[in-house]
Amino acid sequence: MILVAFETSCDDTGVAILEEERVLSNNLASQVHVHGKFGGVVPELAARKHLEAIPVLLDKSLEEAGCSINDIDCFAATVGPGLVGSLLVGLSFAKGLAIATKKRFVGVNHLLGHLHAVFLAFPDIKYPFVVLLVSGGHSEILIMESWEKFFRVGKTRDDAAGESFDKVARMLNLGYPGGPALELLASAGNPRIPFPRPLSEKDNLDFSFSGLKTAVLYHLRQNPKEKKEDIAASFQAAIIESLLEKTFSAADKFNISTVVIVGGVASNALLRSEAHAYARKRNTKVYFPPKQYCTDNAAMIGRAAFEMLNRNLFSDLSENAVPYLGLNESC
Ligand code: KG4
Ligand code: ZN
Repeated sequence: MILVAFETSCDDTGVAILEEERVLSNNLASQVHVHGKFGGVVPELAARKHLEAIPVLLDKSLEEAGCSINDIDCFAATVGPGLVGSLLVGLSFAKGLAIATKKRFVGVNHLLGHLHAVFLAFPDIKYPFVVLLVSGGHSEILIMESWEKFFRVGKTRDDAAGESFDKVARMLNLGYPGGPALELLASAGNPRIPFPRPLSEKDNLDFSFSGLKTAVLYHLRQNPKEKKEDIAASFQAAIIESLLEKTFSAADKFNISTVVIVGGVASNALLRSEAHAYARKRNTKVYFPPKQYCTDNAAMIGRAAFEMLNRNLFSDLSENAVPYLGLNESC
């Protein structure tokens, strides 16, 4: 079975072709140059750029995969969460192709895509495992008992981790996108400023990052000559400590020895190295998707679609975009 997956939930256009769980081609068109000057994503522009990029990326992906549109057995696209105008481009494109070629269509939850990104590199991870999902809109800890059975044990009470990286980057005038720019600045800094670690009680698995963000703002106002590198490094150290303390506490609490970390923030090098250090100390295994599968991409949507197709979970062509779609817990 060969499938094409489209990812257009925000500002990156992604097209990937998979044969079963194997990625044959994976392409991404970034819109950073379009939105950069506005300091964030402009939804109307994002949708127009997806529309321009998607047919070009499809041709490129088919060519790289060595197949034609008639070889495709199923078309998959992200249904949500995301910007509705952006989602509609990928979704309508996939449905249109499914109708024209009389093939099947499957709508994929973007968060499920992030989660399944890890299986692209590590197909044999065994359930149960703890998942830390950290993206621009989500920060949550899940216990996965099987494909169908998972439950949420912690979530952010305010900002998501990626959103906090972006907001602090803006305070430091680092532009957009903020996460990678902040990481780069932090690499030249000393994490010596003791920013707060919110909700640090051991048995509380929720996150809160708005207080940390405000602490950075006040510190900047009161110390205008402070080295920006040190502020970035100290903020990054605080947020990573919060994320890892709670994730590994969840592993302890539920007696689980495998941790999986996914989503855009999972591409952060310090988060990756610190997580490995935590895991070594606790005799726990930790897995990250390769960096290119942490931030938004279509291969992860294809990998989740593959799991759905294996279970005959095809979608109806009436399936619509759902901007606030969450991950539904099943127990
Ligand atoms: O998963 P993703 O690509 O898109 C969403 O589904 O939200 O995540 C994007 C988020 C942004 O907030 C971005 O600043 C953050 O991930 N991010 C990072 C890094 N790369 C992306 N945060 C910290 N360090 C990074 N290297
Ligand atoms: Zn995402």
